[in-house]
Amino acid sequence: MLMLAESVSFRWINCQCFEIKLPNGKTILTDPCYDYKANPNAPVADLFRLQGFGTKDLEGCDYVILNHTHGDHIANLGQVIDRFAPKVICHSGVAGEIAQTYEDMELTDIYPVDYDGTYYLDGFKLETFHGEHKPQRFTWRRTMEEGDVISQDPRLTRLHALGGLYNMNYLLTFDNGFRMAFVGGTNDGMEERLRRLRPNMVLRNKLANDMDVEAAAGDWLGFMEESYTQFVVPMHFEVWENQSPGFSDKTFKRANEMAKEHGLVCRILSPKRTEWYRILVSVQSR
Ligand SMILES: [Fe+2]
Repeated sequence: MLMLAESVSFRWINCQCFEIKLPNGKTILTDPCYDYKANPNAPVADLFRLQGFGTKDLEGCDYVILNHTHGDHIANLGQVIDRFAPKVICHSGVAGEIAQTYEDMELTDIYPVDYDGTYYLDGFKLETFHGEHKPQRFTWRRTMEEGDVISQDPRLTRLHALGGLYNMNYLLTFDNGFRMAFVGGTNDGMEERLRRLRPNMVLRNKLANDMDVEAAAGDWLGFMEESYTQFVVPMHFEVWENQSPGFSDKTFKRANEMAKEHGLVCRILSPKRTEWYRILVSVQSR
């Protein structure tokens, strides 16, 4: 006997962009960034792209939730607003700038939130936490001079600068009780919080840049131990994929071997970009 109950479906698209289908049929899109025009003046920008994926390929979008507003998190936000007119959930520190940048969107489609808040939306509860960007040597002056090298859209320059200031982590609890946490940037107390929150799944960005399987797998093992979750889903490792295809898969496989050796029940997924995954609760006779 095998019985299955559907919890939630999701796919990792690129960077920190996930498309998440909730049990009630609504769709959340996080940090929309996939394809944008190549930048010959900043070849590094190419490492963040998912060439060939467009806004037309998204299946739906009722909500956008932003972790922060750097170009590799919002390069495609304008197109998403134009196609779906979603509610855009963002930290209140960037809400005014979003309204002025996308000046034709309805103001009530912007949903500003603050840290340590709880918000009730159709199909999910959102709990927000302070986040912190990984250290970057960008000053306000330099960012305003350089602009957003990812999108190359001069309208996004201020949002790009504010991206270094306002970062927001969060926990989503869906109507069926499934709990999914989203953690970008530095740890910033999230491991402490996760101990209390006990989510079923944590989406976590790349922990370190080094390209050594053993070292990177060890970092992930540390996070798996400290996150008190059942599944870790890594994100923002498209640079690994674009630079050295196969490295990430080896790393996550090794992290799972280490987890087994350490007696951990947590496992890490090696997500393929744009592939859908379903979370199911199953009951089966032994
Ligand atoms: Fe960033």
